[in-house]
This record gives sequence, C-alpha cells and structure tokens, in this order.
Amino acid sequence: MSPAAEIARRRTFAIISHPDAGKTTLTEKFLLYGNAIHLAGAVKDRKNQRATTSDWMELEKQRGISISSTVLQFDYTGYAVNLLDTPGHKDFSEDTYRVLTAVDAALMVIDAAKGVETQTRKLFEVCRRRGVPIFTFMNKCDRPTRNPLELLDELETVLGLQSSPVVWPLGNGPTSFRGVFDRRSRQVHLFERVPGGAFQAPVQVTSLEDPTVRAKFDDVTFAEVQEQLAMLDGAGHPFDLEAVRAGRQTPVYFGSAVNNFGIQLLLDGFLKDSVPPAPRRRALHAPGTAVEITSETVTAEDKDGIVPVEAPKFSGFIFKIQANMDPKHRDRIAFLRVCSGKFERDMTVVHSRTGKTVRLSSSHKLFGQERETVNEAWPGDVIGLVGHSEFGIGDTLTEDREIVYDEIPRFAPEVFSFISNPNPSDSKKYRAGLEQLLQEGVVQAFTARNGPPGSTLLAAVGPLQFEVVQWRLQSEYNAESRLTPTNWTIMRWLEPHPSLADTSRIVVASGVSFGTDKFDHPVIFFPNEWTMRYFAEKNPELKMHDLPLEQTRTLEP
Ligand code: G4P
Repeated sequence: MSPAAEIARRRTFAIISHPDAGKTTLTEKFLLYGNAIHLAGAVKDRKNQRATTSDWMELEKQRGISISSTVLQFDYTGYAVNLLDTPGHKDFSEDTYRVLTAVDAALMVIDAAKGVETQTRKLFEVCRRRGVPIFTFMNKCDRPTRNPLELLDELETVLGLQSSPVVWPLGNGPTSFRGVFDRRSRQVHLFERVPGGAFQAPVQVTSLEDPTVRAKFDDVTFAEVQEQLAMLDGAGHPFDLEAVRAGRQTPVYFGSAVNNFGIQLLLDGFLKDSVPPAPRRRALHAPGTAVEITSETVTAEDKDGIVPVEAPKFSGFIFKIQANMDPKHRDRIAFLRVCSGKFERDMTVVHSRTGKTVRLSSSHKLFGQERETVNEAWPGDVIGLVGHSEFGIGDTLTEDREIVYDEIPRFAPEVFSFISNPNPSDSKKYRAGLEQLLQEGVVQAFTARNGPPGSTLLAAVGPLQFEVVQWRLQSEYNAESRLTPTNWTIMRWLEPHPSLADTSRIVVASGVSFGTDKFDHPVIFFPNEWTMRYFAEKNPELKMHDLPLEQTRTLEP
C-alpha cells in the first residue's frame, strides 16, 4: 500500500462523555466490530485487570476507578482505527484533555435521558478550540429519554453546535422504542432487545411505510414520529459534510450501546464522514516564549506553519507519559502521535528539546495491558516508547531538525494545593521526584505570593492528580510529602501591565492572590466567581485569560 493510501485509511479519535453515559460499553462494541473480540473482554474487565496487574494501579483499585488512558487500535472495513481512550471518572485529570490534542475527531456520547452534562461540556470545549469534527451518539434509547428535538436544541444552545440527525429514534422508552430511521437511506432499523447483550443485535431493515413497522406503533406514537421527521426534513439543518469536517456541525445518531443497537450505523457513518490524519502546526515561537523561530528555518512547503502529513521525514509529538504501567519493569511509556513520514523501529531521530539523537528501539502498540512491538507506523498512529526518561509531554521527535511542534496546550486548573517535604533529610529524593513528575506533566506548578516557605503550588483539573503525585513520590522515590489544600478554585493568566510591578496596590477581595507560572507569566488565583468578578470590576485595565497568553492568541479564530 502506498504511503498516501496508508494515511488516508487512518482514523484517530477519542470518545468524550460524562461518566456513566456509556463510553466503555460503546468502546467494547466497536472492538467487536473490529474483530478484536478476543480482547474486548479486557475492556469490560479493564478496571479490574489493570488494578491487579500493576501496583501503580493500586490506587485505581483502592478507588475503584480508571485513571489512565490507553490506545486501542483495530482494523474495520479497510480503516485503520486508533481509538484513544479517555478516563471516565469525574475526578479526571489533565491527561484526559491532552489526549484530545492528539485526535483528529471526537465522538461525543450523551445519555439521552440526561442530555449534555458538565464533563461533556468541558471536553467538548477542548475539541471545539481545536476545530476537530465532533460526532454525537445519543445513548440509552432503550430507556425513557428526553424529547429528541429538545436534545438537539440543547446541542445548539448549550454547546453552540449546529446538529443534523443522521438517524432518528422511533418511539421512546422501554415499551415504545421501536428502532431508528436512517434519514439517508430512508430505512427503518427495527429494535429487538437482546437477552444478555449478545454481539449482533437482530436488526430488521425495512421502510417506514412497511405494514410491519406501522403495526409496531400505536396511532399517537406513529403520528408523532411522522411529524418529527417532517419537521427535520423541512426545518432542520441539512447534512453538510464540509461543516461537519470543520467542526461546525455535528451529525447525530441515536441508539443503545448495551444492546448493540444503532452502533454499526454510527461506526460506518463516523468512519466515512470523519477525517483522515490532519496536518499539524509547527511552533513559530520557541516553547513558552514569544521568541519567533527564524524565518529561514521555515521551508516553502510549510510557510504557514503547517507540516503536511505526506512530508517524507518522520515526525511526531509526545502527548502523554505513563509511568510504572508494568510493575515488573518499573517502566515509563511515552505516547507519541505520528504526524508525518513513516515510523520504523530502530530509527534514529532528533529529540528537539535537547537536540540529542536517540534510537527508537523499544516501540510498542498497546492494547490495554497487552503490548506488541511496532515495526512501522504512519501519521495518525499512536505508539508507546518505553524507557527514555528524558522525554517530556509536548516534545517533538523527528528526522527533520527543522520541525518542532507547538507546545501541548495547558488547561486552566480548578484545584490548587501546596506540597512540601516534611522530612528535611529526604530533601534530595523529594526534589528529584517532584521535578520528574512535573516534567512528566502529572500536574502543573505555579508560584503564589505569600505561599508557605519551601512549598510548591500544585494545580490540577481534578484532585486525583494530587493523590497520584503523593502516591508516586512515595512508591517510586521513597519520599514523603505533605499537601496543604487551598480554597482557590479559579486561576487566570494576566496580560502584562505596568501596575503588576507592585501588586500590593491592586484592589482585590480577601483570599485572592497573585503568582506566576513556570515561564514567569503573571497569574491570579481566586476562591470563587464573585471574587473574580469584583477584581474585573475594580481593575478593568488588567485583562484576564483562562489560558496562557500564547495559547489564547493561537486559538482565537
Ligand atoms: P462510562 O464508560 O461512560 O462510564 O459508562 P459505561 O459504559 O460503564 O456504562 C454505564 C452504565 O450504563 C452501565 O451500567 C452500562 O451497562 C449502562 N449502559 C450503557 N449503555 C446503555 C444502553 O444503551 N442502555 C442502558 N439501559 N444502559 C446502558 P452499570 O449498571 O453501571 O454497569 P454494568 O453492571 O451494566 O456493567
């Protein structure tokens, strides 16, 4: 197969959802379609399996949750699918966000009885900023759901996303959900409940006019369905592939993951309408600074800052690091997304951050806990590189020294805690451990004015990240640590301003503090929304951003 064909058949995506919407169940069904069935049990059983085979995951076992994400790869109808799994617990971490920087599309799973929930909204926002196509699956249609038109309306009003249903539910609730109507083929897929959740749901395909379909509905439901379909045809947004691929319109599917109903329609539609690996933007600024990379390093092909996926030289970036996946080896895996060229095992590449050349001999494809050596990979693929303690989140590995990818975005943290070392005699171990964990990006670190002496301010999107830091300091570095929680819940980056030279003169409510990020950019911490609004009112000249300034500038449309 030619390199162009290899790239064109790849689909790299993640499922975003609120906990319990059905992400794990849907993933499992996808794997069944991808003939990864012998391994699919591992997904259902994932939480237990991981916890019993890795002591790093002891924490998962104690908490009964899944912290880490993995990459699942399978082939289906000619497509090479990379499904990047995101942790589903409400205590999610920055890892979840970062995974979304490595995908070309997202599948948003919504519990149709609940609609858009908080975590979906946050994850959606990360996808929206990157402009990736988003497909929507309204799950659990075998149970009573909210009015489907209302659900579409919510996508528009809450997420600001135009929707176009590809399939439409026929009837609602356990006794009257009859199936779905495929608006493209104008066919009805009749729903049969499958005892025990068998793999292939018996689906009868027919038309809406077929007497067998009509016989399944009472008059009221049938009239209602007809009315809804007429309304969608007349007043709904027509399907617009260009808008879908630009992330402006979401195709909507309805079904039931646990019953494997509507899943094949979803998977087929998603793979067809989604996008192959997208080219990636290279850094035009040195990481974390406003220093422009000189124009002579920008070649003719990528003068607008984009590295084409067809570029012959291999390049990729690391979006996640996971330590101690296998307790027998005490190892560390850096997950790399291939962006251009072809990866070949044992190849020698440049590690951009250090400028050193490294040989990539220990490359793996991962499926849950299972590892398989990867000999080659193409743009869109994700590989796990074992060892290499020098690799950090956001690092570029490349055969072409001129390619350096943009930094992985940072995300506005929502929980903050000081960490300190209670044993002065262990300070070497403590420092080394903390430094390593910060480099891995397990949490972000800031400096807060007037913080306890000798402490570091850790910031995360979920409190679990702090527990992970403490756990790993103890188990990997034998270093104790003490956490001192703060009551801050909001942090904003501040635009540089002369008045920041003396913050004691700035009017703030009590409990508010100034600080700096790792690049010495000014930030401010607030206990709540009210104190932030008060600050904005009293200091209109000080502009705040929920992302670092360099990101704000590149992300604004
Ligand atoms: P998550 O990964 O998004 O957190 O959700 P998960 O797939 O674990 O599903 C959450 C619960 O919702 C599970 O029930 C699952 O069986 C159920 N579920 C998923 N899809 C459907 C569906 O289409 N219809 C209905 N009625 N339920 C669905 P559980 O009781 O928490 O777990 P389990 O004992 O069934 O595994």
